[in-house]
Amino acid sequence: MELNKVTLIGGGVLGSQIGLMCAYVGKEVTFWLRSEASIGRAKPKLERYSELMIQDLLTAKALIGSPMGKFVYPKGLIRDWDSATPESIDALVAQAKENFASKIKFELDLGKALSDADVVIEAMAEDPKAKIAIYSDMKDLIPEKTVLLTNSSTLLPSTFAEYTGRPEKYLALHFANTIWKNNTAEVMGHPGTDPEIYKETVKFADEINMIPLQLHKEQPGYILNSMLVPFLSSAQALLATGVADFETIDKTWELATGAPAGPFKILDIVGLETAYNINQMKPDVNVEGSVTNLIGKLLKEKIDKGETGVNAGVGFYKYK
Ligand SMILES: NC(=O)c1ccc[n+]([C@@H]2O[C@H](COP(=O)([O-])OP(=O)(O)OC[C@H]3O[C@@H](n4cnc5c(N)ncnc54)[C@H](O)[C@@H]3O)[C@@H](O)[C@H]2O)c1
Repeated sequence: MELNKVTLIGGGVLGSQIGLMCAYVGKEVTFWLRSEASIGRAKPKLERYSELMIQDLLTAKALIGSPMGKFVYPKGLIRDWDSATPESIDALVAQAKENFASKIKFELDLGKALSDADVVIEAMAEDPKAKIAIYSDMKDLIPEKTVLLTNSSTLLPSTFAEYTGRPEKYLALHFANTIWKNNTAEVMGHPGTDPEIYKETVKFADEINMIPLQLHKEQPGYILNSMLVPFLSSAQALLATGVADFETIDKTWELATGAPAGPFKILDIVGLETAYNINQMKPDVNVEGSVTNLIGKLLKEKIDKGETGVNAGVGFYKYK
């Protein structure tokens, strides 16, 4: 089965990136958005991300032949770096511009947005009630053939499977922010997912230039966040309890492991609001003096000053 017609539910940070990536490789993309105002908010995001993608392609031309090239080229945009030439990248740029202009449409009517979809990707806000509501609304509108995917970062597909009316065709395909560069796609079913649909999803992920990372069972936080969240929490605890300053903590990690970025550089990329929200979910967050409580205060202070990370131009570090 070819999964060519893609409908995105949500046109936020991730929804817009996923839609663009699908259009980039030539899939037909429909964004379902709930109002004209949502379309008004999604369009500038699509423009900004498409410009960044084109810019990264053009920058990659200068990396050809450089030993660093293979580490930093936009992996979701160039499938075969070893055979890339300035001409082949120019052709990708031209094709991308054409596809972004011709392969993306917007729809306010949910029924119309779903009527012919091969695959629906739910990339709506991380709000379980809102997700249940949209799955319930979609249930009788999605064609029999359609695969339904969720990009949820923290919620498990088994939580929602019963509301979808198609548990066997429902699973998670979890992308990372800036997907055209960080092209991982964690594939995670729930116990009722049909193994054939799982395989179709792995194939689809590959077709849209992602590296499919297959989980054999449900795991909150998938593979990446199961490692990253405790790592970042440990670093925040060292800072919040006054063991060391953030620069020393980063330097320790970078020098000792050879990693290019320490935990506070990573936190700036993730965004301090996300880190704060994750911290707020911990049971002892309101226990005065607990490490979690101290981390919450530290992050809140920075967020209140607008120092939320790379996107704001300042987080733990300053950015141009
Ligand atoms: N931001 C990330 O780095 C990241 C990474 C991987 C996965 N995710 C996941 O992707 C999903 C979307 O995250 P995001 O960062 O793009 O969020 P976002 O806030 O940027 O976008 C959310 C989108 O959902 C829409 N929406 C919100 N409530 C709605 C409702 N009740 N009905 C219809 N539409 C509604 C908004 O209009 C918007 O288009 C979440 O499940 C999140 O966990 C996010």
